Amino acid sequence: MEKTFTMLKPGVLQRRIAGEVIHRFERKGLKLIALKLLQMDKAMVETHYAEHKGKDFYGKLVEYTLSGPVVAMVWEGEEAITMVRRLVGPTDIDVSLPGTIRGDYAYRTRLNIVHASDSPASAEREIALFFKPEELIDWKDGNGHWF
Ligand code: PPS
Repeated sequence: MEKTFTMLKPGVLQRRIAGEVIHRFERKGLKLIALKLLQMDKAMVETHYAEHKGKDFYGKLVEYTLSGPVVAMVWEGEEAITMVRRLVGPTDIDVSLPGTIRGDYAYRTRLNIVHASDSPASAEREIALFFKPEELIDWKDGNGHWF
């Protein structure tokens, strides 16, 4: 089973749609194994988005991420990284089709609802930035596989 990291951006809490977005991942069959509500500080945001430093949108991205609490989560499933990114949809809101989370909820690329790891290396790095190993819960599904 693969693990991936997702982060609901501040606008999600402000719009009271965190439950709806989390539901999108759950109903697909992904397994939630860690969840945390937190206000990131500047150093943590800059670490998280280090690869984008210097890009024209970097300042806005940092500012937006600091504008309120985020919901950090770890999801587990077969090819979870690819599956989550498929559910989330493309970064650019002009090409995120309805049916994806961004296509359904975001009007602007800057306010694109959710961050999702784009590779196994990113997932490992991002999970370690937000969670201690003991905060990942290895819970068992009842009598079998539901999905
Ligand atoms: S790149 O250059 O292709 O690697 O960038 P991309 O993956 O498209 O985007 C990287 C993250 O920056 C966010 N982004 C923006 N934020 C604010 N304003 C603008 N204009 C903007 N464009 C892109 C984008 O949502 C990515 O953040 P995450 O959290 O990874 O989705």
